[in-house]
Amino acid sequence: MTLFGGGTILKIMKRVFIRDVSLSDFGKLKTSLIGIIQETFEKLNMDSDDVDGVFIGLMNPEGFTGVGNIASYITDKLGIYGKPAVRIETASSTGAAVFYSAYAAVKAGLYKNVLVIGAEKMTSLSTHEVTGLISQVIDPYERKTGLTMPALAAIVANRFRYESRIRPSKFQNLLAEVAIKNHFYGSKNPTAHFKKEINREKYFSSKYISEPLRLFDCSPVSDGAAAIVLSSEKGGVEIIGIGQGTDRQSLSKRETITSFDATIKAATQAYQMAGIAPESIDFAEIHDAFTPFEILGLLDTGLLKRSEIENFYLSKEGYHNGRLPVNISGGLKSRGHPLGASGLAQIAEAFKIMTDKYPPEITPEKKDVCLTQSVGGLATNNFVTILRLRGAVLKPAKKDTEEFFSKPPRFKSDSNLRVYSHTRLYSTAEGVESPLDLVICEHNYKKFFARYSDRDKPRIKSRVKITKKENGIVYVKQLRRFSIKG
Ligand code: COA
Repeated sequence: MTLFGGGTILKIMKRVFIRDVSLSDFGKLKTSLIGIIQETFEKLNMDSDDVDGVFIGLMNPEGFTGVGNIASYITDKLGIYGKPAVRIETASSTGAAVFYSAYAAVKAGLYKNVLVIGAEKMTSLSTHEVTGLISQVIDPYERKTGLTMPALAAIVANRFRYESRIRPSKFQNLLAEVAIKNHFYGSKNPTAHFKKEINREKYFSSKYISEPLRLFDCSPVSDGAAAIVLSSEKGGVEIIGIGQGTDRQSLSKRETITSFDATIKAATQAYQMAGIAPESIDFAEIHDAFTPFEILGLLDTGLLKRSEIENFYLSKEGYHNGRLPVNISGGLKSRGHPLGASGLAQIAEAFKIMTDKYPPEITPEKKDVCLTQSVGGLATNNFVTILRLRGAVLKPAKKDTEEFFSKPPRFKSDSNLRVYSHTRLYSTAEGVESPLDLVICEHNYKKFFARYSDRDKPRIKSRVKITKKENGIVYVKQLRRFSIKG
């Protein structure tokens, strides 16, 4: 066998299987970061002598817990020092990124068995401090304006609602449906952060974090860890497709903010590698760090069409007995979102569901193929993974991958400065006033973020003017062409 010639190289590439998985409890835990990882590692069914390499995903252990040089620290504490170990980081998709890197090493034949760990300990700090640390993933210029992750997600959500021509009250109902579904499944998941169901009343009485996002639209600040053993030989679930995409760090430099190109790129690669179309997916774990992101994630992976959104949620098609079960682990919303663990936890949950290790009353009937999607930062570094139960036979895709995705509608921009989207942010980072009205403005297809100060709330398309620029922050207010006297 020669190493030259693409076809031959592909033939010597290994198949990659998930051998075992383990999850810690997610939530506000008393245990230290290392303690959580240790407990998760010890629950794995494997002999550590079998491990050829260790891949560790942690987004910010330096900031959250003050621990550095983490890869060798962890292998030391786990008693597997001497093995090759690296730490991987891609913001909130870190868990999926570390899985991707470990997969590549096994696929290439570098290692036979690898240990993959994803973890974060976030709750030692206050919400203000955590908000400040998480905001570091945002473009530094945009962050200056006071933007946080929930604020950006709210701005995306408002624009998405506008472009989809959904009335605000109807849109809030849809978000409520996502939250109620994911909290329902969290209540069934023994390791979830929130094990309580919520109803519409509870949802609608919860506080706004950043309008239109309420408390129950946001993933929480959580501690937790996930671990997976990948193998080129043993394992009940095979990774048949995987992809990664990146995008401009700055949201304002993107053509659209209501569809994430990084997900579309990742999904395209994953479907092409698997040779299947979205209709072959039996269930999905989507990055619902904020409830509207579940909807966007389904669109950007081709699992849902724009015209289907309302019916999908109002007819409960995303439940375990529906057309496409989504986030039946509780998702990031209810299972919790320890940043470095979440992407890996999605895959660990999928493995449990596919191999009958899940509560039978919520296990879907069809569970041979699962798609997981993970979002890094504000969709700057995203991953899609497709898993197949070993031995399951799949129908090959008939269409071109490009046809799977329903593109967002295009809107005209003109030379007038107009509000493109907006939010009122209540949960600001430390040292930033609250509430804070934030807008993204557009003219001639160019966008920028600004603080908004006016007695009237901003509306999409309304005209604004710049009032001042101070310390790198732009301030705008409504443009009134006629002043009403008397
Ligand atoms: N969903 C549901 N309940 C939540 C919650 C959430 N996201 N966050 C906190 N709670 C609950 C708490 O358990 C607590 O309940 P209790 O009174 O019964 O004990 C109550 O709400 C108040 O909790 P607290 O921690 O004081 O809330 P907070 O206002 O400080 O924080 C958020 C709430 C939404 C601001 C915070 O969870 C957050 O910042 N989330 C987003 C994190 C993020 O950006 N992650 C990265 C995404 S990529």
